[in-house]
Amino acid sequence: EETGKGQYEHFMLKEIFSQPTSLKKTIEGRIDSGAEPALEDIDASTLADVERVRLVGSGTSYHAALFGAALLNQSGVSARAIRASEYDVNTGDPEPNTLFVAVTQSGETADTLGALRRAKRNGIDTIAVTNVVQSTAARIAETPLYIRAGPEIGVAATKTFSSQAVMLTLLSQVVADAADGASTVDDVERLMTDLERLPESVEEVLASSDAEAVATHYLGKDAFFFIGRGIGCSVAKEGALKFKEITYEHAEGFASGELKHGPLALVTEDTPIVAVCTRSGERTVKNAMEAQTRGAPIVAVAPAGHEAVSEADAHLSVPDVHPVCRSLLANVQLQLLSYHCAATLGRAIDKPRNLAKSVTVE
Ligand code: G6P
Repeated sequence: EETGKGQYEHFMLKEIFSQPTSLKKTIEGRIDSGAEPALEDIDASTLADVERVRLVGSGTSYHAALFGAALLNQSGVSARAIRASEYDVNTGDPEPNTLFVAVTQSGETADTLGALRRAKRNGIDTIAVTNVVQSTAARIAETPLYIRAGPEIGVAATKTFSSQAVMLTLLSQVVADAADGASTVDDVERLMTDLERLPESVEEVLASSDAEAVATHYLGKDAFFFIGRGIGCSVAKEGALKFKEITYEHAEGFASGELKHGPLALVTEDTPIVAVCTRSGERTVKNAMEAQTRGAPIVAVAPAGHEAVSEADAHLSVPDVHPVCRSLLANVQLQLLSYHCAATLGRAIDKPRNLAKSVTVE
C-alpha cells in the first residue's frame, strides 16, 4: 500500500491526495504557532549578513524558486530565481553576502548541480532544498534542508512542489528575520497559523474540488493560458507546466499583466484563461476580463466571494486563508485540473512521453 498505487489509478493522483500527510511532515517541528519558524538544520553563520538570495532550479523546482523569490522580495530581502540551465550564461559571479539556494526534488538534476558547484567555487553559502536524503545536492551544499515529502513516483511533480514552496516560505521568514532592516510578509502571524493548518485546508480542497467537471467542460480547446501575479504567477506557470506535461495540450503560464503585451493576439473563444486570483483587488481580474471581451472563457481559481468569481465562467474554489496559503491551494486545484484532463484523454500520466523524473545530463 505504502509503495503501490493503492486505491488510485495513477501514482500522480495518489501523490496529489497524499499532500495533507506530506505537508504535515514538511512542517513538523518547524512551525510553532505564530512564532518564528525553526529550521533546525540551518547554522546561524549561514544567515548572518545575507544581503541577497539566488534561488536556482529546473522545471517545477524553478517555479518553487520563483515562489520563494517573490516572498523574499516582499519581505525586503533582494532575491532572484534563476533557471539552472541558464545560470552559467546569464549570471555573473555573486557579490559577497549572497546566499545560494538550490531547489531540487531529486538532488540529482545536472543543470542544478552545475550551478550549485559554481556557487561553491565562488565561496558563497549554499543551501539545498531537496527531498532525497544524502542526494548529490544535499552532499554538495553546506546546508541540506529536507522537505520530507516522501518518495514521488509520478514524473510530474506534485506533492514535492507544495512541500518545496512551504519550505521556502519558512526559509524566507528566517532569512528576513536575520537580515538587517528587512520586514516580513503581510500578516505573518496569520501566515504561520494558516501554514500550520494547511494540511486540513488541502483536505478541504481535495474533498470538494470541481476540477473534474471544469476539465470535462473545457477539454478540446485550442490552448490554455494560466495567469497570475506575484506568487500567483509562479503558481500559474507551474499550472501550465503540469498541464502540458501530462495532457500534451498547449498551455502557457505567464504574469497576468503580460497578456496585453502579446498573448492577447492568440486569444479566442477556444482559449480558456485560468486566472489564479488569491488577493483581493488584484489586477489579474481586469487582465482576464480583457481576454473575456475577446470571447475567452475565464476559470477563476479564487476564494468564494472574490471579485473574480462573479465575472468568471467557471470557478475552482480555495479556502479564504492567508494569500500565500491560498496560492498553494490554488496549485492543488490546478494539479487536479491537469490530472482530470489527462485522465479523460487517456494519457500516460505517470510517465509522460519524452520526459524523465530526473535529468542527469546538461
Ligand atoms: C525533470 C522532471 C521535472 C522536474 C525537473 C527538476 O525535468 O521531469 O518534473 O521538475 O526535472 O527536477 P528536480 O529533481 O531537480 O526537482
